[in-house]
Amino acid sequence: MTSWRNQVYCEDALTGLARIPDGSIDLILADPPYGLGKDYGNDSDKLDAAAYLTWSTQWIDAVLPKLKAGGSLYIFLTWRYAPEIFVLLKQRMTMLNEIIWDRRVPSMGGSTRSFTSVHDTIGFFALQKGYYFDLDAVRIPYDAVTKKARSRSIFVGAKWLELGYNPKDLWSVSRLHREHAERADHPTQKPLEIVERMIRASCPPGGVVLDPFMGSGTTAVAARRCGRDFVGFELNPAYCAIIAHRLAAPEAQLTVQSNQPTEPVRAKITDFKKAKKGKKAAVAATAAADLPPDSAQQALAFDSPVFDNT
Ligand SMILES: C[S@@+](CC[C@H](N)C(=O)[O-])C[C@H]1O[C@@H](n2cnc3c(N)ncnc32)[C@H](O)[C@@H]1O
Repeated sequence: MTSWRNQVYCEDALTGLARIPDGSIDLILADPPYGLGKDYGNDSDKLDAAAYLTWSTQWIDAVLPKLKAGGSLYIFLTWRYAPEIFVLLKQRMTMLNEIIWDRRVPSMGGSTRSFTSVHDTIGFFALQKGYYFDLDAVRIPYDAVTKKARSRSIFVGAKWLELGYNPKDLWSVSRLHREHAERADHPTQKPLEIVERMIRASCPPGGVVLDPFMGSGTTAVAARRCGRDFVGFELNPAYCAIIAHRLAAPEAQLTVQSNQPTEPVRAKITDFKKAKKGKKAAVAATAAADLPPDSAQQALAFDSPVFDNT
């Protein structure tokens, strides 16, 4: 086990990143100060626009070499600087999604001269085409009523019906209220539900997640619960103490249930695919038998792209 794995260093990420070898990280999960002047017990969110964007360029250029070739990155932002930072990242990576986190309940005391903001903007980026992504691990199961309603023969055994649906790019998860059991004393703590979804989708089991701005340590706790390693940094010593406390608490020792298909479901999907393939072949053979001899081969060749909608 390498010494930097499963460590959160109480130091500036820009200095501390030198501890991590290049090409060793599967997933970067970054939740930097947003440039909104929030109080993190330091001046990290008090930069003016130009200085904030210069600093953003610096940490992005320091962190990206740490990624493996198949690695990816999620970044939490708000509407204020998401456009500029997305451009910075698009010059270095491929953008895969803009995910909207609907926090459901806005903060109290919003503006009366514009609309109240109730979402975070999350960017999802990859270094190259063959990036790791496990959709099955994060599908949202259908409830029994919906499954029953899809009981027509065309749906039976369909993978999406058995495993659930793609979470899509609008994630509606309540922000953590003061009285929420998960809540630590940090002003912008993220819900485990969101961070665990990113980790299960984009970091292979046993892989490493890097979070340069740990805050209350949500990424570290989520990684441990999902069976992944973590490494990260946090400037504020009081938050570092919260991270240590959260990592020692029972919630961090729980293992999040994998959403992978169970053996019976896997077998059902395989049987269904085989049956479907057999049916298609039979239909094609019948159609081919009805055609003049020289066009039969052509009909079979075009069968699969036209009818395969799995
Ligand atoms: C948006 S918060 C992260 C919240 C975290 N995702 C959570 O769920 O608790 C950003 C954090 O980055 C820390 N920070 C700011 N600049 C930093 C730097 N250069 N190196 C390390 N940490 C930094 C701040 O102290 C703050 O706690």
